[in-house]
Amino acid sequence: VLLQQVIVNLLMNAAQAMASADSAVRELIIRSEILSTGEIRLQVLDSGPGIAPGLERKLFESFFTTKATGMGMGLPICRSIVEAAGGAIELANRDDGASGARVMLTLPAL
Ligand SMILES: Nc1ncnc2c1ncn2[C@@H]1O[C@H](COP(=O)(O)OP(=O)(O)O)[C@@H](O)[C@H]1O
Ligand SMILES: [Mg+2]
Repeated sequence: VLLQQVIVNLLMNAAQAMASADSAVRELIIRSEILSTGEIRLQVLDSGPGIAPGLERKLFESFFTTKATGMGMGLPICRSIVEAAGGAIELANRDDGASGARVMLTLPAL
C-alpha cells in the first residue's frame, strides 16, 4: 500500500509536469526491471519540462513546491517510504536524449 502511494505520487507529478508544458506530445513511460543483483528498479519518465539545474536535491525538501497550489510533500513522503524499505529514489533530467524528468527508484531484493 505504501509503494502504491509512492507510485501514485510520481505519476501525478509526471502528469502535472506534462500538463504545464505546451508540447503536443505527452508521453509517460513506466519501466520496471530486476537487476542482476536481485534489486528492483522502477523508473518513471515523462516528456514535461524537466528539472531546473541544481534543483534535484531541493525537490525532496518538505514543502518545496513550484506549483501554485502544491503542497510540496509528495517527494519527501516518497523518499521516506522508499528509504524505510531500504531503497533509494532520485529525480533528475532524462539522460536518454529525450527531454523531461526521470525518477529512478531502487528497492532491495525480496
Ligand atoms: N516529473 C517532474 N517534472 C518536473 N518537476 C517535477 C517533477 N516531479 C516533481 N517536480 C518538482 O518537484 C516539486 C516537488 O514535488 P512534490 O514534493 O511532489 O510536491 P508538489 O507536487 O506538491 O509540488 C514540484 O513542485 C516540481 O517543481
Ligand atoms: Mg507532487
